[in-house]
Amino acid sequence: MPESITQSIETLVHNALAELGEAHDSQTLDQWRVAYLGRRGRLTTILRGLSQLDLEERRAAGALGNKAKRSLEEHLDRRESEIRQVQLDRSAELDRLDVTLPGRPLSMGRLHPTTQVIREITSAFTAMGFSIVEGPEVEWDKYNFEMLNIPQGHPARDMWNTVWVDYQNESGERPMLLRTHTSPMQARVMEATKPPVRVIVPGKCYRYEATDATHEWHFYQVEGLAVDEGITFADLKGTLYEFARRLFGEERRVRFRCDYFPFVEPGVDMSIDCFACDGEGTSGCRICRDSGWIEIMGAGMVHPRVLAGVGYDTEKYTGFAFGLGPERIAMLKYGIDDIRLFYSNDLRFLRQF
Ligand code: PHE
Repeated sequence: MPESITQSIETLVHNALAELGEAHDSQTLDQWRVAYLGRRGRLTTILRGLSQLDLEERRAAGALGNKAKRSLEEHLDRRESEIRQVQLDRSAELDRLDVTLPGRPLSMGRLHPTTQVIREITSAFTAMGFSIVEGPEVEWDKYNFEMLNIPQGHPARDMWNTVWVDYQNESGERPMLLRTHTSPMQARVMEATKPPVRVIVPGKCYRYEATDATHEWHFYQVEGLAVDEGITFADLKGTLYEFARRLFGEERRVRFRCDYFPFVEPGVDMSIDCFACDGEGTSGCRICRDSGWIEIMGAGMVHPRVLAGVGYDTEKYTGFAFGLGPERIAMLKYGIDDIRLFYSNDLRFLRQF
């Protein structure tokens, strides 16, 4: 076998191993493999050149070449696993978890104060046998007004500044609106069910109104309705009295005064004695403004025209209805002095509840 071939194989192996020692990542390893062992690699080229030699020489050189090839392959494998081990060690070091570090605080969500108060109100009534129903916020004039004894052009419509929906029917009327109160559900519930009726309706309402500390253009109401044979004003008083005591304390007293809502007759507003100054009306009470009384809702006996409008027999059935504002209840309970705080999404406010 010519000296030169032995020589060049040995030199090649020597150089290759030196280079391999310098390789520190899999990309360089790959390049190295292609350079020496690939189909056009240096060792392959030398081995291919052996075909020029005679048989005896070819056999010897071939054996040497194959030995060199195996050796290079073994070194490559070894280097590969060395590099992998180094990478593993490094990432283990980087990803090391310090279990003694303090954790990040989890921020806990909570129920909005309005939701909390609505739940308190509805559970006071469900405990008395009312069931909870909900209705649409986009409503028809028919339910929001007409079926509540407030026909077109009735001056009482001015009591509810209305946001109308830009929708026109075939007759050119614009009968769609955002409900101004939850009372349309009185008509909807009675239209859909026969007496006895005992429902409580929490829900969102809208009014076309400039906002200030006591007015929002959207707010919640909780409506109540009970219709059955023989329901009297005493039932209304008893139910609402029980409600007031559950929400504001056992010692509460209540007061009813005449008020006007077209869908009830007689209509009243209900006040509780001031829990801040205990109804004393002492000078400077911010809650009751020294009157000793706090108005919390409108109520009354369902107007016979409303009952007749849903097809109820007005000789047989009577009922009472009431409507209250949960934000107002929350303001009273928690001493909040501006209704706009509820929906301005200020966490400093919301976190207090
Ligand atoms: N819907 C009335 C309002 O928004 C309140 C009310 C409800 C009064 C039921 C009487 C009976 O002002």
